[in-house]
Amino acid sequence: MIPQCGKLAANSNVAVVGAGVGGLSFAFFLSKLRPDVSITVVEASKRQGGWINSSKIEDKPGHAVVIEKGPRTLRGVAPGTTLIIDVLKSLNQENAVYYIESKSEANRKFLLAPNDKLVQVPNSPRTFYNFMSSPLGKGFGSGLLGEAFRKGPSHKQSDETAHNFISRRFGNEHVSNNIFSALFHGIYAGDIKKISAKRTLGAMVELEQKQGSLVKGMIKKSLSKLGGVSEPQLPGSLREYGILMDRDADGLLELHSRLKKLPMLGLQNGLETFPKALAIALENTPNVRIVSGDASSRFGMSGDGKSEIHLASGAKLTNFHHIRLTNTPGVISKMVQNKNLIHQLQKVHSNTVVLVNFYLADVDLIDSYHSFGYLVPQSNRNEERLLGVIFDSVIERNFKPFVESGEPHAAVRQDGKYTKLTAMLEGHYLNGEGLAGLKDNSFYINSVKRALSRHMAISQEALNRGIWQVTPAKECLPQFFVGYDDWLAQLREQFVENYGSHVSLGGMAFGKGPGVPDVVMDGFEDAAKLA
Ligand SMILES: Cc1cc2nc3c(=O)[nH]c(=O)nc-3n(C[C@H](O)[C@H](O)[C@H](O)COP(=O)(O)OP(=O)(O)OC[C@H]3O[C@@H](n4cnc5c(N)ncnc54)[C@H](O)[C@@H]3O)c2cc1C
Ligand SMILES: *[C@@H]1O[C@H](CO)[C@@H](O)[C@H](O)[C@H]1NC(C)=O
Repeated sequence: MIPQCGKLAANSNVAVVGAGVGGLSFAFFLSKLRPDVSITVVEASKRQGGWINSSKIEDKPGHAVVIEKGPRTLRGVAPGTTLIIDVLKSLNQENAVYYIESKSEANRKFLLAPNDKLVQVPNSPRTFYNFMSSPLGKGFGSGLLGEAFRKGPSHKQSDETAHNFISRRFGNEHVSNNIFSALFHGIYAGDIKKISAKRTLGAMVELEQKQGSLVKGMIKKSLSKLGGVSEPQLPGSLREYGILMDRDADGLLELHSRLKKLPMLGLQNGLETFPKALAIALENTPNVRIVSGDASSRFGMSGDGKSEIHLASGAKLTNFHHIRLTNTPGVISKMVQNKNLIHQLQKVHSNTVVLVNFYLADVDLIDSYHSFGYLVPQSNRNEERLLGVIFDSVIERNFKPFVESGEPHAAVRQDGKYTKLTAMLEGHYLNGEGLAGLKDNSFYINSVKRALSRHMAISQEALNRGIWQVTPAKECLPQFFVGYDDWLAQLREQFVENYGSHVSLGGMAFGKGPGVPDVVMDGFEDAAKLA
């Protein structure tokens, strides 16, 4: 988000706070578009990549296993994924790209029913029948049949909770409690009863406003598609990328058309391959430097119309024409002085997720449930406060190389069987207690063992044999409360009042969505506006 736009003058100095994928991609695109601009990236931690964290363990001497402690897959339909793959291509790393095809078993998903049974999300008549006859199907059929006849809200409201919106459209609360709340656990680690419908279900909210009903709107849409075969086209942002970055337009269209059909992509050696490639490219770019292991403690205007950053070490970086912040609102609130701005930034809470990774060599403990994994809806008792479990071994074993190169892709799949899982816990369930409510590692490992054996009948003995790791991702996911878009508009005005066109905002809280492709696209769009 750029509160007030102005192009950078020749030979300007720009600072980027945060070397997560948002900050690195902004710096990368800006350095390509404006080689005359000097860029300084300031990163608190010793490593780059932020939440993207592909760590390695050795299960036996000389045999490394990648364990993802944060994001692991990219959605093919997101235009930002086209940017990521094209950037990797330009850095000669296209061979690192893997994909999952739609018909793959890794593209199946399960939901946990209130009776602790896993039920597959329908992808065929048989699974549809099973789903509808499970406790999770309650209210879905009647809700859908009646949807076209249900009126909109009695009075026009600017926003409401996602739970409210879904419950109004389906005429009951079961569909939100049983199905949608699970998705909000998976994406936001959040409570669907607190999250903004406008921000997170924007397309559906718009359909209701325009067509009066989701079903009517979707029927209209598919009829208009039947009307004529339209030429495939690049979304505007990708077209602009192609032009500004001098990429072949046909090649980009072909890439985007192919990616759009893929449910997921991944990278060799884990998703961190991307931020690593960006960091190496930046380190080899004249005019760019990355300062790691020193946090920004404060930034502000320095009187001469330039801005400056104070670092935790006591050092001061000065003479910036523009500062790009890529942190959560809570972190930024600690770097500013204006009381109103601090107050406004502190309104956004970021949820904490506890990641529990499990690896066991030689055995496949989940062979009856091969899929992407499962999510837990709010209708489950869920004493363990589990949000969901990702079946990494199933995903990895179904990865295919995106580029046919003739060479064997040895690292795509490990030979033989193994089980690799990531469980995610806490999220909004922790919010009553805050970070003080975090328990120790063994508590979470025991919770996950209990949950896995109850949900999938895995033996405790097998679970005890594996390798376990626990990583709390503290305050990682900003929560989009009801009225978030209005909050953003106010924040934008306050930034202009305080900093004019000298500061812009990127990262999860300020992009179009919370995913990696969203923050990368946002980084490109804002770099293009400044360049
Ligand atoms: C558990 C989890 C799973 C996820 N899974 C997926 C997924 O599968 N697919 C997907 O697309 N997205 C996923 N996401 C979202 C994804 O992680 C984010 O979109 C992305 O990492 C955001 O990058 P960022 O650069 O905006 O923020 P961050 O990664 O948070 O980067 C911010 C950087 O700023 C640094 N920093 C903090 N304070 C300071 C300071 N004072 N001074 C200097 N530097 C500072 C931090 O150290 C960090 O490196 C997931 C997120 C989480 C938490
Ligand atoms: C990344 O992984 C390492 C190694 O497992 C861990 O120590 C660290 O806390 C993780 N960092 C983040 C930001 O998740």
